[in-house]
Amino acid sequence: MSNTNSSTELQNGFGRVIGIGSFLPKDVLTNDDLAKIVETNDQWITERTGIKTRHISDPKTDTTESMAIAAAKAAVKDSGIDPSEIGLVVVASTTPNILFPALAACVQAAVDADNAMCFDLNAACPGFITAFVTAQNYIRSGMVNCALVVGAENLTNYVDFEDRGTCILFGDGAGAVVLKADENVGYDAIMRAAGKRGECLRCESYMQKGREKTPEFIKSNYINMDGQTVFKFAVTEVPRVIDNLLTKTGTDPDEIDYFILHQANRRIIESVAKHLKQPIEKFPMNIENTGNTSSASIPILLDEMKKAGKLGEGKKKVVISSFGAGLIWGAFQTEI
Ligand SMILES: CC(C)(COP(=O)(O)OP(=O)(O)OC[C@H]1O[C@@H](n2cnc3c(N)ncnc32)[C@H](O)[C@@H]1OP(=O)(O)O)[C@@H](O)C(=O)NCCC(=O)NCCS
Repeated sequence: MSNTNSSTELQNGFGRVIGIGSFLPKDVLTNDDLAKIVETNDQWITERTGIKTRHISDPKTDTTESMAIAAAKAAVKDSGIDPSEIGLVVVASTTPNILFPALAACVQAAVDADNAMCFDLNAACPGFITAFVTAQNYIRSGMVNCALVVGAENLTNYVDFEDRGTCILFGDGAGAVVLKADENVGYDAIMRAAGKRGECLRCESYMQKGREKTPEFIKSNYINMDGQTVFKFAVTEVPRVIDNLLTKTGTDPDEIDYFILHQANRRIIESVAKHLKQPIEKFPMNIENTGNTSSASIPILLDEMKKAGKLGEGKKKVVISSFGAGLIWGAFQTEI
């Protein structure tokens, strides 16, 4: 079994990505729009983050649930499978609109995956890769043959639009993939966490018995972030985990067609490319138009790449890596 943190070569018998889908809300917030809300400007945001616009949910029509369902339906359609084949639905979200039932059960109902087990998973921004790695292990163990993995977020619900250090970064959306067991697919992963360093990125639940609704407590219900600490964490740990993964799979970085990274900040992605001594063209980005959509960022980007004809025939060797609150980070390698 390859998905331990100690094996040395790629094994077979994991899931192959056979369908991809995504959903982005139609409303768009530009940097100029933000400059009317907080003291900032387009040049500052563009230079520090690479973000120009982000999609934001319409409170009348878009929920985390509705976006997850839209992305999941598109992925199932793209895969061409009968939904009854799906044995597992897992939804990664750190901003669910309902605590229970699980969003995964709502998705199951909407896509008619009547034979699937369901659960949600919260690993913040690396939620999608954590869910993907989890689903791969269900497939590898033989427990399920086919899995639907979704990342869905409504982050702007949790953004403090008085905090210029965070409100410029985040956007909403959802993405999904369908995985099907395939003896010929290569796959391996390394996942890491450092909970002791988690204070730098935190958001507390509003529903806490006994907590007085003081201004400090109300602030804590929004995304609180020490941006520089998160930045340093990402530019240190992401290249390291990718290096470790490539060593584990015995792959030269030059053999990788695409390094698909969590879309948090263009400068973080450029720094990883520099460390790996790989051309920036191998690091696809859509952050300019989406901002950071947390666990949705990677499947949204995969969908864009597939629609642009860059992925989807199983011929591209990819390393996919994400990082975020926890602190949690990791990477996996496969062919899409
Ligand atoms: C948030 C981030 C863009 C801030 O950029 P930075 O270069 O680290 O900026 P700093 O926080 O050091 O702030 C520098 C100055 O810009 C100011 N500033 C912060 N946000 C600003 C904004 N939106 N517009 C204009 N100025 C801003 C600060 O107040 C500070 O001013 P000061 O020197 O007068 O105090 C950057 O730290 C970052 O992207 N970090 C990673 C965050 C992330 O990806 N989080 C999610 C992980 S999943």
